[in-house]
Amino acid sequence: MVAKIIKDGVYAVGAVDWNERHFHGHTYVTKRGVTYNSYLIIDEKITLIDTVRKGFEKELLENIRSIVDLSKIDTIVINHIEPDHSGAFPEVLKACPNAKVYGTEKAREGLLKYYGVSGNWTAVKSGQSLKIGKRTLEFIDVPMIHWPDSMFTYCAYDKILFSNDGFGQHYATNKLFDDEVNFDVLMEEAQKYYANILWPFNMLVASKLVAISKLNLAIDFIAPSHGLVWRKYISDIMEKYLYWSAHKCKKRIAVVYETMWNSTEKMARRIVEGITSEGVEAILFDVTKNDRTDIASYMLDAKGWIFGSSTHDGEMLPVIAGFLHFLKGSKAKGRKSFAFGSYGWSGEAVKDIEDTISNITTFDPSFRVVFNPTEEELNKCFEAGKSFASKIKNEE
Ligand code: FEO
Repeated sequence: MVAKIIKDGVYAVGAVDWNERHFHGHTYVTKRGVTYNSYLIIDEKITLIDTVRKGFEKELLENIRSIVDLSKIDTIVINHIEPDHSGAFPEVLKACPNAKVYGTEKAREGLLKYYGVSGNWTAVKSGQSLKIGKRTLEFIDVPMIHWPDSMFTYCAYDKILFSNDGFGQHYATNKLFDDEVNFDVLMEEAQKYYANILWPFNMLVASKLVAISKLNLAIDFIAPSHGLVWRKYISDIMEKYLYWSAHKCKKRIAVVYETMWNSTEKMARRIVEGITSEGVEAILFDVTKNDRTDIASYMLDAKGWIFGSSTHDGEMLPVIAGFLHFLKGSKAKGRKSFAFGSYGWSGEAVKDIEDTISNITTFDPSFRVVFNPTEEELNKCFEAGKSFASKIKNEE
């Protein structure tokens, strides 16, 4: 990436990680890569907002140098210390030895733990601000969007909200603004990001959105630390965040299964046929062949969740078990489910499924078949899908 101008005096100076495919360890498959956005404001006090992941320091520092000498940076704002944003912090500190650093107290504690340095630190919180010349930066605590240390920084002069993880998308691109890329792809990535990063914090996201709306901030740009800067579609992404964080979802159904000798798969396919016969949208996900990142993204916006597994050694199969452990962290609400599967002699998988995620969804009675479904049993699968879809469709 090269430094890009957002508006007079405000530049994007971060890095593009074109080839990152497994973010957060292996919890998030980033098919379109990742960006680590960092912003430079040229005012009386030259200010850097956030840094980038370790390994991308050179790109960040070169981008800054293309605008200003590093030693001239007076202020560094750390909105969030997760290593994708703070990994380059020690190198930046070395390059800008005179800079004062601002962030939450929790951010300072985290930086010391990760890197043993926090620089010339001033702890800030909501309601506090920092004058950097003709601009004043206002700080807004947003704990758990995405970690306890997180905050947003707002600049009224430019009407920019620097939102760090909030409103992000994992989307490597050499474009800067939301309206420079395909809208559907952008929103697909924003939804995937919400499902895989922020879904567990719905309650906090919702309350912070309300608190921020009460501040009546004029916002022309939302500049997150991942992906594109929002300028044209601000109301679209705000509406989506309000919708997702309120646990709202469409009357559609995800059927997620793992099969051993295809009996459970045969059941899954007939269940989907039953759902479709009611005119309800459904997608069938073999959990061994789809990225859980994509499945979770679909499920974020699906009222019905149906899970299938063959029984293996007295339990559900291991890949769906891993997926359900991942999913239960979402703390979803208001979903409806049932479980199904084939078995040989004991058939514990369906109960195993129910026990694993009964905290986030309610289950209709499950059903199982021995070895291989007969045509009569497949007809029951069809009817189960149809009846479940009818309930989803007719629910208020
Ligand atoms: Fe993009 Fe929570 O870090």
